[in-house]
Amino acid sequence: MLLLVACTLAACDPEPMRTDADIIVVGAGIAGLSAALEASGAGADTRVILIETSSMPGGHAVQAGGFALVGTPLQEKKGHADSPEIAYRDLMAWGEDADPAWVRLFADRSRVDIHDWLTALGVNFNILLDTPETTVPRFHFAGGTAVNVIVPMLREAYGRKNLRFVMNARVDDLIDLDGAIGVRHRNTRTGKSGVLLAPSVILATGGFQSNLEVVRAHWPVALAAPERLLIGAGHNATGDGISIAQAYDVSLHRMDHQVTFINGLPNPRDPTRGLHVTNPAALWVDASGRRFVNEAADSKQTEAAGLALTPQTHWLIFDAQGRRKLRLRGAPWLNPKTIANEILGDPDTTHRADTIAALAVVAGLPAAALPATVDRYNRFVAAGRDEDFQRFPGADGVALTTPPYFAMQLFPMTRKSLGGLTIDLQGRVVDDTGQAIDGLYAAGELTGVAGINGSHGGSGTFLAPSVLTGRIAGASAATYAKTSNTVSRATWSVTSPLADTPANHTTGAVPLLTAGQLETLLAADRSGYWHFGRAHAVVLERKYTCTRCHTHGWPTGPATTTEQRLVQIESCTNCH
Ligand SMILES: Cc1cc2nc3c(=O)[nH]c(=O)nc-3n(C[C@H](O)[C@H](O)[C@H](O)COP(=O)(O)OP(=O)(O)OC[C@H]3O[C@@H](n4cnc5c(N)ncnc54)[C@H](O)[C@@H]3O)c2cc1C
Ligand code: HEC
Ligand code: HEC
Repeated sequence: MLLLVACTLAACDPEPMRTDADIIVVGAGIAGLSAALEASGAGADTRVILIETSSMPGGHAVQAGGFALVGTPLQEKKGHADSPEIAYRDLMAWGEDADPAWVRLFADRSRVDIHDWLTALGVNFNILLDTPETTVPRFHFAGGTAVNVIVPMLREAYGRKNLRFVMNARVDDLIDLDGAIGVRHRNTRTGKSGVLLAPSVILATGGFQSNLEVVRAHWPVALAAPERLLIGAGHNATGDGISIAQAYDVSLHRMDHQVTFINGLPNPRDPTRGLHVTNPAALWVDASGRRFVNEAADSKQTEAAGLALTPQTHWLIFDAQGRRKLRLRGAPWLNPKTIANEILGDPDTTHRADTIAALAVVAGLPAAALPATVDRYNRFVAAGRDEDFQRFPGADGVALTTPPYFAMQLFPMTRKSLGGLTIDLQGRVVDDTGQAIDGLYAAGELTGVAGINGSHGGSGTFLAPSVLTGRIAGASAATYAKTSNTVSRATWSVTSPLADTPANHTTGAVPLLTAGQLETLLAADRSGYWHFGRAHAVVLERKYTCTRCHTHGWPTGPATTTEQRLVQIESCTNCH
């Protein structure tokens, strides 16, 4: 154990340890934001630091969609009677090995502690979708993506005087002290490192689905690992929290429970990553040119069938009519023009021919099998019955008869972690002997969201439980901090040189930039400016004027004051 500041029992300094805050939250995704809001809501004297590696808070949620919520006014309005009992049964059945205690807690508290809490922050859940794994429609959306949930959370968080953000600071590890935890971090822009101290730390760094090494190391033993596996999760979902917590001999659970989509198209601008492709008009064929599953079945069945193939890849086959049903997601540059040019027009990404036989040749599929498969399917469509896979009657079946014909080769793509750090019902991280560790908490996808999903992720069962586990960890950490023998520094100073606080900047000193100067900055490929680069590439592509987002209150430069950050979050929905 490394003792930086603390005393030992034998020679104890009666002075309580001085820490930088009462609670440090690592990761400003939806789980970390929920934890920070909950902890800072425990009282004005509870001081919270939220530390984040990116320049932008929000995590995956800005790209994600809906929330599983139970017994809401929207469900009532639409005439769907839902209850914790029904939700409990659905989750246990779909998840197969879900944790009953967590499922119970989630089902019971979803309405008040997730829905009502978010609604009170200004979130408006106005869209409800039905999904195959629930007996009652339960998949709630706030307008579009969950950026519409993140922005109200940020508005509240930026207004809290006892909550400080430390941005562009990547946490590498924890130092176990006697009575406090040290969080060692490094500035992604300057490279400077520092340590922050608190009696309690909440880890909320997200899942590990962008770390193929960890994904493969925990690949389910019953399945062959795919030769080609694309990344389909957020950029910082590299499982850092797992390595950060190693110092505490933590216990991991369900690491081989991973949601792997099978419909990943290599992103032509970054072939390690997958674009999410759907086309309800398409046939799916394997490397032998034959269908292998009911394409319209639920994801549990289609994913199992796709991952059982040898090799684990399949092709979407559609015609000129079906082309209209093609949908692609997963990159900000996708739009009808780029899809036509860079996806459908790129012979490495999409094969195209005037006959199915010719398509088989260009796609490298068996020349006789593919036409036979399509003929057989077309006959089933004419007869109204899919004798092989029972796709219809039930779902759409449209014959493939209109050239040109298309073939797109898809690969498995990582998505969501259903395992990770084990936590108890108070959000405390559990060690490998089964003991809860004092002062160390975790929340969100880093915990695989606590076993609520079992072995199969449902719809909205990541975002909603991330809020719940975040709040639980935040409340527990705040209680723990109050009983610990430490004081947070009398003057609220996040002493680290990395602190992105008003005190470290001179308001108004930021130079005004022109679009030309912006291009020079973008070309510079600076460390720690990933989001700035991505966002302003969109600004230039769409020819936005700077003042669309950077108003007089936030000139073209970093947002440093609370006021500027409040202006900044008004810009998020331009792109997310
Ligand atoms: C494309 C896509 C669509 C999805 N759609 C849905 C959906 O519709 N419904 C649903 O319920 N779920 C969905 N999910 C899953 C859901 O988005 C995530 O499970 C959820 O957002 C996780 O939240 P989190 O706060 O736990 O983690 P994250 O959002 O990953 O946040 C973690 C934060 O920690 C930061 N961080 C990471 N490492 C460090 C470090 N070392 N130091 C400091 N900071 C660090 C990250 O930058 C990030 O801000 C989707 C996921 C994807 C990829
Ligand atoms: C659609 C909204 C939008 C428009 C338009 C826009 N910006 Fe930004 N700008 C942002 C956001 C969001 C950030 C914060 C990005 C981050 O920190 O990751 C930002 C940050 C910046 C920064 C600070 C980067 C740093 O050092 O942290 C500069 C400089 C900047 N913008 C310049 C410009 C210029 C010049 C223009 C016009 C050519 C422009 N922006 C147009 C949204 C916008
Ligand atoms: C001008 C466009 C633009 C604006 C404005 C903008 N972003 Fe982004 N943002 C992007 C792009 C592009 C990406 C990269 C997406 C990708 O490549 O996957 C991104 C990525 C992100 C990510 C990483 C998501 C992940 O899954 O890893 C977060 C978090 C984020 N933005 C938050 C915000 C927030 C919060 C705001 C408002 C303050 C904002 N952004 C404003 C364009 C923008």
